[in-house]
Amino acid sequence: MLEIAINSDQPADEFYADLISSASALVDGEVDAIANMANIAALIWQYVPGLNWAGFYRVVDGELVLGPFQGKTACIRIAIGAGVCGTAAATGEVQRVADVHAFPGHIACDADSRSELVIPVVHEGRIIAVLDLDSPLPDHFRPEDETGMVRLINAIARNLG
Ligand code: SME
Repeated sequence: MLEIAINSDQPADEFYADLISSASALVDGEVDAIANMANIAALIWQYVPGLNWAGFYRVVDGELVLGPFQGKTACIRIAIGAGVCGTAAATGEVQRVADVHAFPGHIACDADSRSELVIPVVHEGRIIAVLDLDSPLPDHFRPEDETGMVRLINAIARNLG
C-alpha cells in the first residue's frame, strides 16, 4: 500500500501538497469512482484534524445520495438546494460555514457538528458530487483549508466520475 508521510503540523500549503500527492497516488490508474471516493474519505479522515465527518454525496437522478464516508451514520438523500451540501451542488460554489446553526436549512445529521466545508466535484463540466467535511469545532475551516481542498478535488475529479 501507498506510503504516506503527512504531518498536520506543517504549514497549510505543504500539508495540502502532501495530501494531494497522496490522494493522486491513491486514485492513479483506478477508474471506479466509489472505490476512489472511499479511499479519499479515509485519507482525509486519517490526516485532517478536527473532523467528525468526512465523505461524499453523489448526484444521482437529480438529488444528492450518500456516498463513501467516515464518521457517524448520515442522511441518505438531500435535495439539490437543501442544506449546505445541496446549496454547494445547486450553485457550484464552495460552502465554508463557520456556524452551521446560522445556515438557513442546515441539515443536522450529527448534532455535534458546528462548522462545515463543502466542495463541489466537477467532472466534464457537470457537478457529479460534493465533498462534505464537518467539524465539532466552531469556525474550524480556514481559507487555506478551502483552497487546499479545492486543489485536492480538482486534482482527482476525473477519477471520481
Ligand atoms: N450538514 C449537511 C448534511 C450532511 S451531513 O452533515 C453528513 C448539510 O446541511 O448539507
